[in-house]
Amino acid sequence: MAAHGGLITLADLKNYKVIERRPLQGDYKGYHVITAPPPSAGGIGILQMMDMLARTNYQANGADSVKAIHYEAEVMRRFYADRSEYLGDPAFYNVPVKPLLSPGYIARRVSSIDPLHATPSEMVGPGLPKAYEASLRWQETNQTTHYNVVDKYGNAVAVTYTLNGSFGNGITVPGLGFLLNNEMDDFVAKPGAPNMFGMVGGDANAIEPGKRPVSSMTPTIITKNGKLFMVVGAPGGSRITTGVLQVILDVLDFGMNPQDAVDLPRFHQQWKPDYLYLENGFSEQVRAALQRMGYVLQPIPSVARVEAIVDKNGLLEGGTESKLHGKVAGY
Ligand code: DON
Repeated sequence: MAAHGGLITLADLKNYKVIERRPLQGDYKGYHVITAPPPSAGGIGILQMMDMLARTNYQANGADSVKAIHYEAEVMRRFYADRSEYLGDPAFYNVPVKPLLSPGYIARRVSSIDPLHATPSEMVGPGLPKAYEASLRWQETNQTTHYNVVDKYGNAVAVTYTLNGSFGNGITVPGLGFLLNNEMDDFVAKPGAPNMFGMVGGDANAIEPGKRPVSSMTPTIITKNGKLFMVVGAPGGSRITTGVLQVILDVLDFGMNPQDAVDLPRFHQQWKPDYLYLENGFSEQVRAALQRMGYVLQPIPSVARVEAIVDKNGLLEGGTESKLHGKVAGY
């Protein structure tokens, strides 16, 4: 670090502590979802978006229907607006996990979706009541990889770890062989300034000594009747959470196997910029219908490279981004 003019000292590294956190948990149509807690935004995102969708019949016309894309994009927009304001390192900022996941709030939030039109992001803000925001305690004192493993007993792990950009900051520690990350970009450098994924935010995720940045990482385990059902996660920056959401919905609500779910073209909405990002593979009719509803479409090569395992009563099925780096293997 010293050789490259970096700020991190040996004392900083000595003082760094790994924190083992309790996962967030929630329920969706008889499934139990176990997922990443703050400072990742991913778990709150998955639980909020799934609970909003459970209050619609977004799935009525199929996974790639205009209706499904519209409702999923609108819940994404609402979650990313909340994320911009309320997500930060819980050691520095009182992340309102309970209010963000409370059924009353979710019901109110989803009721603002217009069935026929995209809501402009300018009309959607972070949604908690102002009275609640005022009571928040502001503590002024103070290249990503995902893999899933399941063993024959049904023990499961979902692991996402990140260097942030490809090869992190591009510097390998001499003699030690590991890359340094460029994770500072997951903080908000200043209000309104987009990071490398176009994400904006505020004080909750501002840079402070000893603070951890908000992440999109969404390693998730889903159980049904107390037994493993699905393990899933992805790299992909701000698009991790929406990519993971879509693969979960494709399996749980649209009955796909994990490979078909991973292969289905994905889309992404992150509040700001107010675009609906589409991978290749959406029909002209669907694109035209979305444009008529008010979406501004933007092509994107990939909405997260999702990896998944589904456990069908002991039979394990894998889904992977094999056209990139992914792989499914059994031993
Ligand atoms: O934790 C995060 O949200 C980011 N550091 C993830 C970056 C990432 O996935 C880049 N890879 N495609």
